Amino acid sequence: MALQAAATLLPSAAITIHKEGRSSLKESTFFGVSRSEIYRADFNPLFVNNQGFNRRLQIRPIRAQTAATTPAISSPGAKKTLRKGNVIITGASSGLGLATAKALAETGKWNVIMACRNFLKAERAAKSVGISKENYSIMHLDLSSLESVRQFADAFKRSGRPLDALVCNAAIYLPTAKEPTFTAEGFELSVGTNHLGHFLLSRLLLDDMKNSDYPYKRFIIVGSITGNTNTLAGNVPPKANLGDLRGLAGGLNALNNSAMIDGGEFDGAKAYKDSKVCNMLTMQEFHKRFHEETGITFASLYPGCIATTGLFREHIPLFRLLFPPFQKYITKGYVSEEEAGKRLAQVVSDPSLSKSGVYWSWNTNSASFENQLSQEASDAEKARKLWEISEKLVGLA
Ligand SMILES: NC(=O)c1ccc[n+]([C@@H]2O[C@H](COP(=O)([O-])OP(=O)(O)OC[C@H]3O[C@@H](n4cnc5c(N)ncnc54)[C@H](OP(=O)(O)O)[C@@H]3O)[C@@H](O)[C@H]2O)c1
Repeated sequence: MALQAAATLLPSAAITIHKEGRSSLKESTFFGVSRSEIYRADFNPLFVNNQGFNRRLQIRPIRAQTAATTPAISSPGAKKTLRKGNVIITGASSGLGLATAKALAETGKWNVIMACRNFLKAERAAKSVGISKENYSIMHLDLSSLESVRQFADAFKRSGRPLDALVCNAAIYLPTAKEPTFTAEGFELSVGTNHLGHFLLSRLLLDDMKNSDYPYKRFIIVGSITGNTNTLAGNVPPKANLGDLRGLAGGLNALNNSAMIDGGEFDGAKAYKDSKVCNMLTMQEFHKRFHEETGITFASLYPGCIATTGLFREHIPLFRLLFPPFQKYITKGYVSEEEAGKRLAQVVSDPSLSKSGVYWSWNTNSASFENQLSQEASDAEKARKLWEISEKLVGLA
């Protein structure tokens, strides 16, 4: 049974089901990931000549697996200066968020703002992985409260720091919940946290990123294969399906309406998958509305199956016991937290991953590629409708 449950989080098994229903073998994100693969920074962004003021960019050929790099920043005058990038990572107290914080921080080129609901846990987590003090700070953010999201955005703006990258990573997954639970404002907790909290956060911080003078600005929302029904994993029931969004439009509160986006019966595993579809649709709608105007790169990704993270904390103990070996030895889809963190760090900072509107995945050689989203997760009309309903729910319209 636990293994059956494990299948609900199957990795991007090598088969992709195309929109037309064809299946084809494809390089998998999971198989044969080499831990020894080292990301190399072959991007040398700044060349300073002998005079010291006639600086210019010198770009060498970029390798696919480039680590975080330092950009050159143009100040209003002709003189160019260097500064560290500022990146906010939500849910950086564990798993993928923590590994990404570490990967970016240890380059010494990023100030990582760990946006976490539990300050002490975040502080301990940063220490436990050896992130040095000068490269991170912690700010309180509880995505299950829109008030907390607003306070966070206000506090960040008051700090006077520019914002160069925002990583919407935090998530909860409640696969065994029999009844829905709710956010402070009364939205079903998974969608309320994973989608609505991040939607408000990113809308409130968009102008800050727009105003940043960093040479590349990125807004990343972590997606998932489980929300993509063009994959094997995405076809394991309960499948993601937003339907006509009637439950969301009704407030997702289970009072007079359903707690599920599609208006159906509550299902905790489906609510998580639905929330990931929302994340991927939101990224595309941001891209459509703001990429040209702001120059911000909007992207999503599936980092691989990181079977050991706290995401599975609410699952039954047998599942938690069997899921990691199942992914490691049966599907061979397991990706370590460290490897996944490097992948997300790449999407934040690798100059070669600057294309906007992309959903990134990684192949067997740990090389990134643009993946295809499912029909629903790339439905432009649904993305527009989701945006408009979400705006109303979070009080922006
Ligand atoms: N694990 C996988 O196999 C996998 C695969 C594909 C995608 N992902 C995605 O990767 C992302 C990170 O997941 P993970 O696997 O690293 O899980 P994780 O270790 O459980 O990390 C989730 C993070 O979200 C935070 N969080 C939860 N609710 C929050 C709230 N209300 N406000 C602020 N922060 C909150 C958690 O904070 P606390 O520490 O305080 O609980 C934690 O830091 C998620 O978006 C997930 O969908 C994971």
